[in-house]
Amino acid sequence: MRRPLIAGNWKMNTTPEEGAELGRALAKALVDAPAVDVAVYPPFLSIGPVAQALRGTDVAVGGQDLHTETGGAYTGNTSGEMLAAAGCTTVLVGHSERRTYEQESGELLAAKTRAGLRAGLWVTFCCGETDAQRDAGDTLDVVRGQLADGLGGLTANELRNVVIAYEPVWAIGTGRTATPEQAQDVHAAIRAWVTSTWDAGVGRSMRILYGGSVKPTNVVGIMAKPDIDGALVGGASLKADSFDALVRFQSL
Ligand code: 13P
Repeated sequence: MRRPLIAGNWKMNTTPEEGAELGRALAKALVDAPAVDVAVYPPFLSIGPVAQALRGTDVAVGGQDLHTETGGAYTGNTSGEMLAAAGCTTVLVGHSERRTYEQESGELLAAKTRAGLRAGLWVTFCCGETDAQRDAGDTLDVVRGQLADGLGGLTANELRNVVIAYEPVWAIGTGRTATPEQAQDVHAAIRAWVTSTWDAGVGRSMRILYGGSVKPTNVVGIMAKPDIDGALVGGASLKADSFDALVRFQSL
């Protein structure tokens, strides 16, 4: 019922030319891809060339961030409307790297989520605990708090255009993937929180991705868990062959 979604977050990697090249390689590799949804989040400058390279495919292109306003005197920023005009259909909000390095608050992330939806984009909203928070036994409180801050004000109808990505900070770029059981425990708690905050229908239909050192060698065990509906992939999304393998996880 929940269609799997494999998404690549390219972070601050690829020039426009390199992005176009990777986009073309993905377009070629994914021609006969299975029935899963696929999205890539290139850096802003690569969005146009990547969207062009992927034109005619079902791969969604998204921004890694957006500003809350539609336009105006906000030097250095990009609006959701601009992303949509450049070929994006989705945007990432709340990645831990932005929470940490750009000090993005829960309140700001709620406004960014609303701005993405206003621009007609679907939002991949990220959450996840640090090592210290996990060690302190605070994982579920931290994750539920981030989700309540970011998504709590949305209606059930708005949530149809939201995907949640659980990315434990300690698993990002470290090679230390959460075990499928650790991830499933948090995903189940997220789904329970969505159900109790809205209703069972929203809980059942909400796609929840896992992110953090996902690779072709560990994706099968992760995707086998009932509450894990896909993956948000960093490093392994930067090579067409490994991303293609992830998209084809069902045949690994
Ligand atoms: P890695 O797959 O490189 O660990 O990155 C995960 C991530 O942060 C995706 O948003």
